[in-house]
Amino acid sequence: MEEKLKLLEQRRAKVLAGGGPKRVEAQHAKGKKTARERIEALLDRGSFIELDAFVEHRSSDLGMAEVEAPGEGVVIGYGTIQGRTVYVFAQDFTVIGGSLGEMHAAKICKAMDMAVKVGCPCIGINDSGGARIQEGVDALSGYGDIFYRNTLSSGVVPQISVIMGPCAGGAVYSPALTDFVFMTEGTANMFITGPQVIKAVTGEDVSAEGLGGAKVHTEVSGVAHFKFKDEDSTLEAVRKLLSYLPQNNIEDAPLFNTGDDPFRADQELAAIIPDSANKPYDVRRVIERVVDTGDFFEVQPDYAKNIVTGFARLAGRSIGIIANQPAVLAGVLDINASDKASRFIRFCDSFNIPLLTLSDTAGYLPGVGQEHGGVIRHGAKLLYAYSEATVPKMTVILRKAYGGAYIAMCSRHLGADQVFAWPSAEIAVMGPDGAANIIFKKEIEEAADPASARKEKIEEYKKNFANPYKAAIRGYVDDVIDPSQTRARLCAALSMLLGKRQTLPARKHGNIPS
Ligand code: HXC
Repeated sequence: MEEKLKLLEQRRAKVLAGGGPKRVEAQHAKGKKTARERIEALLDRGSFIELDAFVEHRSSDLGMAEVEAPGEGVVIGYGTIQGRTVYVFAQDFTVIGGSLGEMHAAKICKAMDMAVKVGCPCIGINDSGGARIQEGVDALSGYGDIFYRNTLSSGVVPQISVIMGPCAGGAVYSPALTDFVFMTEGTANMFITGPQVIKAVTGEDVSAEGLGGAKVHTEVSGVAHFKFKDEDSTLEAVRKLLSYLPQNNIEDAPLFNTGDDPFRADQELAAIIPDSANKPYDVRRVIERVVDTGDFFEVQPDYAKNIVTGFARLAGRSIGIIANQPAVLAGVLDINASDKASRFIRFCDSFNIPLLTLSDTAGYLPGVGQEHGGVIRHGAKLLYAYSEATVPKMTVILRKAYGGAYIAMCSRHLGADQVFAWPSAEIAVMGPDGAANIIFKKEIEEAADPASARKEKIEEYKKNFANPYKAAIRGYVDDVIDPSQTRARLCAALSMLLGKRQTLPARKHGNIPS
């Protein structure tokens, strides 16, 4: 037995050494951890249990018969984050560039299958040269197997992708199919075709960073949700995100004792909204004053900033927040904001996370670019996502709620369970200026002093129509509340709504506009 144990130790040591000291050193020199170091940093200390350490490739083409690939270039297993089980896989760039062959893919698929079987999140750390060229179609089939599982796992267990190196070609589609994509600045790249191919085909000159770095994907393309300056802060953020999420689609998110009084009144809230309806303010100031201990974990903070999405807690329970951002483009809804919000809403609904919507928007962004870009079908996603969501849905109309945007921001008509309005709310078909110009056109034109007649009519419209009471009279708004009571009312509403049970008509699946 002693002999056999020694052999086991030797074999394991070989696997643990990955691509060997030189390649590990090269990895560190780039500011990158090894796959095992990353798992170590991500999981609760000492909780990682590795599986499939001894898996080997079986390819022989193009000199592969002689190539040893410890661990097959990917480390898989399970462990805990804040005491809760997660499955994890981390590609090991020190072993054949973390390239994905048949058995590498089989290991990832095992982790994904086990995550679904036991009902826990699956976290993938990507750092790979892509399909292992020597393995040809076996490598491609491996990607297909992963995409298939990404899709079938969607809405069953949370799937998180962490990009910490190259992620090129078709490989990008696995992260794209998962719920959240994290990127580390300076080292993470994602693109379908790299700089050289682009240069050859279109003549464009671009660096890998400029083409698909963390900044590009979190600010321009919207492919990634989060960017962080180094690997430690990236992994810490993954841990924080998971604290808001349930383990799977049939569980609730963990209940925290945040120590914040659910009935805490806040006299400062009312002062955040400027007196003039056209003045901007940062809606995150409202969010932070309402939620537990001001703790708001923003999702996609750098993309479509005219809408704010993120997680927080009310009386210890996770909620997903969607808020128009009057500080950016007057909080208008546009193509990117609709995409960002609808995907977030669908995530929350999949995982039993109640929704809180804060509404203050002038409406949809006008423009040829928006219309030709398909704002109709993109905007429709928001209506679809809110309408199909069966989790508790609460809405607070802070200020402007005009026209289609009033409906789209989780109005009663899309199934909101509780709708509150602040006294500053203006719920109408359009803003006072535009409305007065149309309905009082004749009176204004015929007045001795058209300018002051116009001003008068705008005031008249504001007083009679641009307020929350017309909607409250119909019961579309459940109550007009003092802003200082917002937290108390939302905590009470959430507690009341916990028993909500809503089932949709049986169907194979809906067909969300895309
Ligand atoms: C086999 C690969 C590899 C790959 C890297 N390596 N990528 N081996 N297949 N795809 C190997 C290298 O030969 C090298 O081996 C080691 O990994 C480290 O790579 P380097 O090039 O030395 O590292 P670096 O300079 O940091 O460059 C990293 C890189 C580059 C930018 C990722 O390796 C690269 O461009 N690789 C190819 C990327 C690519 O085009 N992949 C295919 C994408 S298409 P040694 O032994 O020298 O250390 C695809 C299709 C998927 O993935 C389709 C799914 C539907």
